[in-house]
Amino acid sequence: MQRKLKVPNITYFHFLIFFLKKNCFFKHRFTLDFTFAPRNLFFPMNQLARTFNSSVGKKLIKALTGLFLCAFLLEHLYGNLLLYKDDGGEAFNEYSHTLVHSVLIRIVEIFLFGAIIFHIIQAIVLTRQNNSARPVKYDVQKSSETSNWFSRNMGITGSVILFFLVIHLKNFFVSYRITGEVTDVAAHVKESFDQGWYSAVYIIAIAFLAFHLNHGFQSAFQTLGLNDKRYSSLLKQIGTGFAILIFIGFSSFPVIFYFNLLD
Ligand code: HEM
Repeated sequence: MQRKLKVPNITYFHFLIFFLKKNCFFKHRFTLDFTFAPRNLFFPMNQLARTFNSSVGKKLIKALTGLFLCAFLLEHLYGNLLLYKDDGGEAFNEYSHTLVHSVLIRIVEIFLFGAIIFHIIQAIVLTRQNNSARPVKYDVQKSSETSNWFSRNMGITGSVILFFLVIHLKNFFVSYRITGEVTDVAAHVKESFDQGWYSAVYIIAIAFLAFHLNHGFQSAFQTLGLNDKRYSSLLKQIGTGFAILIFIGFSSFPVIFYFNLLD
């Protein structure tokens, strides 16, 4: 009689865990609670859940969701640039209309809001864990020698961005997508930036966003294991370039519409 040999079911998750172990955890000298035991081979989801529950896993989620939000910002900036088209807002409104009616975009948006929530939760949990592991604060003099105020206070810049997001989503997302009060989104953006205080709040919030990105961008890549000395200064420069692009790009809207520079 022929005996069938049972071959473990190696899935995508095993490769993912292998990749994480090799590229991130190993470099940071963290131990990953993963062994190629039969139970783990057949239940990779359990293993993945345990991995993401560890403090390294939380850092990883923060890094991955942060990079996903960076990609969103580029796409959002591209969409908003359509406001500069001299067509009475037609291209921008058509773009917004496409966003509403595309199933794919709807799915991506669920990921987007999920990423925002996960990013915030992981940041809070990690900060609390770090504070309780280190009840005595570092000497301010010493820590400021190696880092600046913004890199040490990502929680503060993040909270300002969250506050901005609430105002922003209420004004643009809720009124257009949920309550339907707004139909001409392009005209609504221009009317909003006609108010000085509103434009000022935007510019200040985007400046905080830029500082958050300046540190967050390179920090995310470091978490992913790309912290080799050869690339760290390049990564820093790319992060700063990205933060400057986001600042100039997004703050141009309140400036241009408030001062009517297109007319
Ligand atoms: C200052 C320039 C900005 C303008 C003119 C602008 C405009 C808009 C508009 C009109 C919408 C609704 C679009 C629609 O549903 O079709 C929207 C949504 C959104 N915005 Fe902005 N936005 C700006 C900056 C930002 C920044 C800096 C962030 C992130 C910190 C951001 C995050 C979001 C999010 C998460 C949504 C909901 C998701 C979506 O509709 O795709 N926006 N924005």
